[in-house]
Amino acid sequence: MSAVAMARRMRIGRRVPPAAAPLCWKDLWHGVSGIFSPERSLRALEAEIRRHFAVSHVFLVSSGTAALTLTLMALKSLSPKTEVVMPAYTCFAVPAAILKAGLRPALCDISPETFDFDHALLKEALNANTLCVLSHHLFGVPSDIEGIRALCRGRGIFVVEDAAQAMGVEDKGRRLGTIGDVGIFSLGRGKNITCGSGGIILTNSAPIAEAIARHYGELEMPRSSEVLKDFVRLVLMTIFIRPRLYWIPAALPFLRLGDTVFPKEIPLKRMSGTKAGLLRSWRSRLTQSNQVRSETATYFSQRLSLRLAPGPSHPYLRLPILVATPNERERLYSRSQECGLGLSVAYPTPINEIPEIRVAFNGQRFPSARRVAESLLTIPTHHWLSEKDKRAIAELCRDLPVA
Ligand SMILES: Cc1ncc(COP(=O)(O)O)c(C=O)c1O
Repeated sequence: MSAVAMARRMRIGRRVPPAAAPLCWKDLWHGVSGIFSPERSLRALEAEIRRHFAVSHVFLVSSGTAALTLTLMALKSLSPKTEVVMPAYTCFAVPAAILKAGLRPALCDISPETFDFDHALLKEALNANTLCVLSHHLFGVPSDIEGIRALCRGRGIFVVEDAAQAMGVEDKGRRLGTIGDVGIFSLGRGKNITCGSGGIILTNSAPIAEAIARHYGELEMPRSSEVLKDFVRLVLMTIFIRPRLYWIPAALPFLRLGDTVFPKEIPLKRMSGTKAGLLRSWRSRLTQSNQVRSETATYFSQRLSLRLAPGPSHPYLRLPILVATPNERERLYSRSQECGLGLSVAYPTPINEIPEIRVAFNGQRFPSARRVAESLLTIPTHHWLSEKDKRAIAELCRDLPVA
């Protein structure tokens, strides 16, 4: 890390986390109750999610990446095909899950306005070996899943809807995560709601659910020591996610907060009863969390010249802005770091440039994914943002040259 980056990291004082989800002491207490009745807590959560999202099958696992991996392993068992078409710019956990499932990621460039696939390119990317198309809703911005389904229809290609960043978000009256053949949510730290780490798989397809159930049956419950470690981590997170204290974990280089890392290992476990307990009031937390995000997006839409495809009051997980040039992006990001305002540059490279896997994509180019990686800034939308933080961010980004 450079001296300048180190100095920025060491800033003492109020610091807004780039992403956060509501979690309070009462939720932690519910987690403790989950320790004593794990089966009941897990079954209750499963049933509530099935009802709320109107799906017939729900599986609760240890992370969003585990949810994706298990889903892909299940699809692999239903077909001899091996290719997964995915966006060239997304979370690094996505290609990691595809590789862990023993499949091959095939990249397709994106539309910089929505982060959805460029649908003309997607059409060309599909072939006789395409097992599934894995689409996302990055920062909560909806991708056109129906359009993707139309391209896949009649060709034996599944549509996986990665709604890790869009739990509780709707598009044209439909709940994201339930439109594809199978969907997933993440309950990680900076998501719409959190239990520290967790994942949910949803599907209405009986054959897919049967295939997932076969793999799910082989998963272990987390060991007591892991449950305890996770719980302590969560208590610490509940304390240190507050802007008054966030500078402390942010200054510890070994925590690597804010760094995007390619996951080397993907533990595949069931969700613990403690986490299911922690999520007891998930519906009210989700409603509240997305309501605040929507209000924050409205605030910035009224003050900045933003081009927002899903509208000004959408519940963005973070508010994405494409800055006109990489230099300008760097200037704003540096200033935000100095002032502790929580702006983030999201994923630093397109998927084909991730050092650990780039040999697999030699010679391939994804210009829009690259442009987004070079010029994207995200504004936090979570409940920890004060009126003063919002004013400071609006002031910083006021004359923003938007791409
Ligand atoms: C689009 C997307 N997919 C999958 C994941 C993986 O979820 P988790 O962090 O819960 O493993 C994430 C996490 O950030 C994500 O943003």
